[in-house]
Amino acid sequence: MATLTLTHITKRFGRDVVAVKDFSLEVPDREFLVLLGPSGCGKTTTLRMIAGLEEATEGTIEIDGVDVTDLPPRKRDVSMVFQNYAVWPHMTVYDNIAYALKLKRMDKQTISTMVKEAATLTKIDQLLDRFPAQLSGGQQQRVAVARAIAVRPKLFLMDEPLSNLDAKLRAATRTELKAIHAKTEATSVFVTHDQAEAMSLADRIVIMKDGGIIQIGSPDDVYHRSANLFVADFIGTPPTNFMNVELEVENGQCQLAGPHFTCVLSAENAAKIEDHDQRQLVLGVRPESILIVSEDDAVLSAECLVSEPQGSHQIVAIELGDKIVKIIAPAHPVIAPGETVHLTFDQEALAFFDKETGLRI
Ligand SMILES: Nc1ncnc2c1ncn2[C@@H]1O[C@H](COP(=O)(O)OP(=O)(O)OP(=O)(O)O)[C@@H](O)[C@H]1O
Ligand SMILES: [Mg+2]
Repeated sequence: MATLTLTHITKRFGRDVVAVKDFSLEVPDREFLVLLGPSGCGKTTTLRMIAGLEEATEGTIEIDGVDVTDLPPRKRDVSMVFQNYAVWPHMTVYDNIAYALKLKRMDKQTISTMVKEAATLTKIDQLLDRFPAQLSGGQQQRVAVARAIAVRPKLFLMDEPLSNLDAKLRAATRTELKAIHAKTEATSVFVTHDQAEAMSLADRIVIMKDGGIIQIGSPDDVYHRSANLFVADFIGTPPTNFMNVELEVENGQCQLAGPHFTCVLSAENAAKIEDHDQRQLVLGVRPESILIVSEDDAVLSAECLVSEPQGSHQIVAIELGDKIVKIIAPAHPVIAPGETVHLTFDQEALAFFDKETGLRI
């Protein structure tokens, strides 16, 4: 097992493309770290540099304190799993998993033990004699995972390994990957553009945009303490609702004036923003933090535009100013289009962002 340290890593392709910009990160032993961001933000390039498949233009990469920046992939002691499985079609499952162990010139008995152990962990121990063509996509991906963990690498790298699986299998395999990590405790770096996948797997999430790091934090951090508008919008489904509001201070009382509402702020919220140098702010409120209440307790009332039943809850959409605001409400009573809903905000869950910089206040 190992630690990974990236220091000021930059990757340029030719003159014009800067795929990764000044990326610094420390991954402690046994951590499951997820790189999350939209398409083209530099996730794969970062992972390939860690694996040694791509050369860093600037910066250094250390594994367990040893500088591996100029070492070829095979000398870095890392395993990588790709999106498209990349298992060898002409070899049985057993031979696929055993291949890298044979290269290490281990004896047959040890290889057999290690293959079976990896196969048991990934639940493919019944499939060892089959060829990849005789397996489903999900099973092939397990072979790729088994092959990667069998060698007991210092680092386990995965680039969107679940994205070719259908939604149900994807969720199930995700749970298994987490269980495998709990057992092997291999330091892992996992790339995805799927925020739900990142939230469920990660000890820490690195949110990337345009080749740089926007925020590093636990799933709880990035969800409840999003560093800026980009993160608050990217994490969570439905995403955070944003409203342009104006802060008003009268007789020592702070209130927000928004589209069709005014809301007196709790003392904690007032303390957060009363000294901010701008009065025009962006209010961020998560769909589950807008609560349906009686008319007397409401901060605002609006007509339901549509309601989407989800089984365990419903997503109610209302129009507020020029924006659609989404609310996660209990499944019952079902709210019909045209029905008036009375709403208030959970003050503890409100977030405030600077209108110019987008940064959380
Ligand atoms: N070999 C290459 N030559 C030139 N540009 C490249 C090369 N590889 C990647 N890029 C560019 O670098 C940027 C980052 O690409 P990268 O593949 O790392 O993104 P990503 O975050 O993995 O995206 P996705 O979610 O779509 O896989 C993109 O703008 C991409 O076009
Ligand atoms: Mg990629």
